[in-house]
Amino acid sequence: MSDDKPLRRSKEEQTADISEAQIAVHWPEEDYFSPSAKFIAQANLTDAGVFERFSLDRFPECFREFADLLDWNQRWEKTLDTSNPPFWRWFVGGKLNACFNCIDRHLARHKNKTAIHFVPEPENETVHHITYQELFVRVNEFAALLRDFCGLKTGDRVTLHLPMVAELPITMLACARLGVIHSQVFSGFSGKACADRAVDSESRVLITMDAYYRVGKLLDHKEKADIAVAEAAKEGHKVHKVLIWQRYPGKHSSPTKLVEGRDVIVNDLLKKYRGKRVEPAPLPAEAPLFLMYTSGTTGKPKGCQHSIGGYLAYVTWTSKYIQDIHPEDVYWCMADIGWITGHSYIVYGPLALGASSVVYEGVPTHPDAGRPWRIAEDLDVNIFHTSPTAIRALRRDGPDEPAKYHHHFKHMTTVGEPIEPVVWKWYHKMVGKGEAVIVDTWWQTENGGFLCSTVPAIHKMKPGSAGPGIPGIHPVIYDDEGKELPAGSGKAGNICIRNPWPGSFQTIWKDADRYVNQYYARYCKDRKSKDWRDWPYMAGDGAVQAADGYYRILGRIDDVINVAGHRLGTKEIESAALIVAEVAEAAVVPVADPIKGKVPDLYVSLKPGLKASKEIAGKVSAAIVSEIGAIARPREVVIVPDMPKTRSGKIMRRVLAAISNRQDPGDVSTLANPEVVDKIKELVK
Ligand code: WTA
Repeated sequence: MSDDKPLRRSKEEQTADISEAQIAVHWPEEDYFSPSAKFIAQANLTDAGVFERFSLDRFPECFREFADLLDWNQRWEKTLDTSNPPFWRWFVGGKLNACFNCIDRHLARHKNKTAIHFVPEPENETVHHITYQELFVRVNEFAALLRDFCGLKTGDRVTLHLPMVAELPITMLACARLGVIHSQVFSGFSGKACADRAVDSESRVLITMDAYYRVGKLLDHKEKADIAVAEAAKEGHKVHKVLIWQRYPGKHSSPTKLVEGRDVIVNDLLKKYRGKRVEPAPLPAEAPLFLMYTSGTTGKPKGCQHSIGGYLAYVTWTSKYIQDIHPEDVYWCMADIGWITGHSYIVYGPLALGASSVVYEGVPTHPDAGRPWRIAEDLDVNIFHTSPTAIRALRRDGPDEPAKYHHHFKHMTTVGEPIEPVVWKWYHKMVGKGEAVIVDTWWQTENGGFLCSTVPAIHKMKPGSAGPGIPGIHPVIYDDEGKELPAGSGKAGNICIRNPWPGSFQTIWKDADRYVNQYYARYCKDRKSKDWRDWPYMAGDGAVQAADGYYRILGRIDDVINVAGHRLGTKEIESAALIVAEVAEAAVVPVADPIKGKVPDLYVSLKPGLKASKEIAGKVSAAIVSEIGAIARPREVVIVPDMPKTRSGKIMRRVLAAISNRQDPGDVSTLANPEVVDKIKELVK
């Protein structure tokens, strides 16, 4: 972006002085790639008339088509209720059960088909192929345990802190069967991070696993549950029960002792529930299905609340038409179910369509960068879905590996961060063997499913660009004054969506004000209006729209850093640093990284009289890992003599980010302490 003005916000909103969008790389326009005739011939969606069908004048009734992909206990009366903006209610009056839609309805025709291929990280362990029938049995028995042993009922929340194992979708679906709201916390997050989410959601039950594999090591995971319960207690919240799945059934794989009366081994207890069946509860379309916590502009992660009907309809439609999933496909999304991508596109979307979904426990490059292609070859995966970070790592570690294997993908997805055209082209040529279509899907935890993407058999692909809005999604780019920036203007601005859509979150758990203020207030035309047209949704990303209508996403415009496709709040990281007694001030900035896209650099100043040392820097780093998790570990902790500050005392993160990114910090003469800039440059060198 030559002109960064459209991304600058009003004074009150200017909490950070640098955004990802401002350090985004400048890419020239790229040439198009076309989907193959072979792909088009088999695709679920080839009729370009779909965009007419989903035009704004057909809104909201066009979305009936989404809901019609589901089985309903009771059909809805009203497609969309907009009487209380921006709290949209979809498919009002309808009743359904998500678990029924993902399992029971497939049994008549597909009970013997694999629902989940669980691939353990150690390559000498056998892959588990769980059929729909087996999934049905396991989910029912576990649902009975949750209901009868834990006393859980519709509307209760439970926190899950499970790794990438089949027990995670089993647990989610068992909750969905009962109408219990699951809140899965990414297993790589710390016990403290798990506690914060359990407290916010008031979960009395925590479900975890004793251990799991990561980069060749069996990690003790249960110890995090002990920390989580203790930390929750400090915040005045009691977790009554910890349910522990065993990574190896019948064997306890954690050295951590069980706590009498609190900890229960699920695999032992399940024997009591053998053969039990639980009726799938017919639930209102607008009842919550799950919470997914994500980082925002303040320190506290927010629980995005997703509905049963709207969400499930949205992920099912997009799985069918954007992922092009057919029931006979073997689909592998190499994300973690602990993030929204895994919820929507490992579990709910593919299973609602009766596909076979791969759950891989470990890291893509373990034991070597050929691993994903061996898995794909063995399982005959034909749809593959991953993040730019994983693609960059596989390209770095094994650029020629894919050619050694006989896998064939018809379709590939990228999600989570902008992908550089050169990386996209390697993905296309080497991983996709020039045969696979690629969709670059842009969306967020809040959105439930894809917002922008090409429709694979209709549009040409353009490396580095997500594409237009998907059918039914009408994006718009606004500048700071709320003026629309037209396609081809060459200017970047804030990407928003003009209309509500069924997959969107319903609110932030226990924080409706934040929901309104953060996403809708900025461009709302009239706060009193009952007309949805006055309430565009603001995503918080900078974007440009090319003349062909394709959107290119530049990155976050707010205090969020997207590390390896995972959102981290700068405030969360900074408050973790401030826990270290020696630290007076902390400022975190995003730094461009060849593999992870962005990584955090942390600048700290110490309390008076203290000297910088490696030891303090180490302590700060450790505090961040224990508060949030290894994913937030800063690349560098730089202890500075003073923070660059404005005369009013505000830390100038923009200057720090420029230094970390080896860019020119620009004119610093107006700072209160301009002399400190050169000193910091010296330290970072
Ligand atoms: C970024 C992940 C560019 C964006 C599904 C967004 C992307 C944030 C893309 C949401 C993409 C996601 N191209 N950037 N295709 N997809 N992003 O909530 O900044 O973990 O706001 O959801 O990731 O991250 P989240």
